Amino acid sequence: MKKKTQVYKKSLIVLLLKKILFFIKAILPPKWYDIFYKFTFKIYKSLIRFCYLRFYIYYYFKGDIKNLKKTKIIYRVMPYSLVGEKGLAKTYDLVKKVVDNNLEGDLVECGVAQGGCAALMASLIFEKNNQTRKLWLCDSYEGLPDPTKEDFDQKMCSTGTHTQPMDKGFCLGTLEQVKQLMLETFNFPKDKIIFVKGWFKDTLPLKNKEIGKIAILRIDADWYDSTKECLEYLYDQVAAKGAIIIDDYGTCFGCQKAVDEFLASRNLTVEIKFDGRGGCYWIKS
Ligand SMILES: C[S@@+](CC[C@H](N)C(=O)[O-])C[C@H]1O[C@@H](n2cnc3c(N)ncnc32)[C@H](O)[C@@H]1O
Repeated sequence: MKKKTQVYKKSLIVLLLKKILFFIKAILPPKWYDIFYKFTFKIYKSLIRFCYLRFYIYYYFKGDIKNLKKTKIIYRVMPYSLVGEKGLAKTYDLVKKVVDNNLEGDLVECGVAQGGCAALMASLIFEKNNQTRKLWLCDSYEGLPDPTKEDFDQKMCSTGTHTQPMDKGFCLGTLEQVKQLMLETFNFPKDKIIFVKGWFKDTLPLKNKEIGKIAILRIDADWYDSTKECLEYLYDQVAAKGAIIIDDYGTCFGCQKAVDEFLASRNLTVEIKFDGRGGCYWIKS
């Protein structure tokens, strides 16, 4: 494995916000804190989305149609995704490459939550009517499982750089919610999207044969066990020149550990590249 040169570091503002959140959590009853957190997170996301409009305006006046289209899609899926704009942009570029180069294989996302990034990928692969590719969306649809000891950094007493602990059920997106988004809001073809509901350790060993060749394997499951299961059951099916995206490599300690251990155990030499906000990817040779 090539030496990694860049991992995600939170900005001072985010670190300060984290401290403020810890303080508020300490003084508020849990139920109130939960309401407060959900409310502030919504405002934060709306602000980020509003600021993202600057790219749209820039490309519009520049007359850059290609980037205008990209920005439009990202802006549209942002309310449904926990992935930041840089992660969405990198996923867009990698999927676009697969489509433009007509690379063989389906797209798989492990860790779908409310389906924002899935909708971004679908927007590209179903753009032309004759697309035969499928999109596999694997998730418990019950939110995260609990982290295990492999996810904790003992010195930092935390599982990563997130603003608050992510307990069981965090990041929830239900199957009904995601189906509604994909099939009704975005109106993507019903027969090309396969929803795989359940814990990876139960579903992936049964489904991997059916999935077949993979052009993009997008793993966005935060924890050590979850990431490792996805790699172990699906990595061999990624086609040559296909991409593996690990959304939480620089933000969740267990995720990074799972990836590093997996690559070392297979003696794989890959060139890990970063998306600029904590996610990473590499192209299978
Ligand atoms: C960070 S969220 C995914 C974000 C999503 N890609 C987006 O666009 O917003 C992590 C997701 O992984 C799922 N997940 C994590 N570990 C899992 C496991 N072992 N089995 C099934 N689903 C899992 C959770 O249910 C959750 O929806």
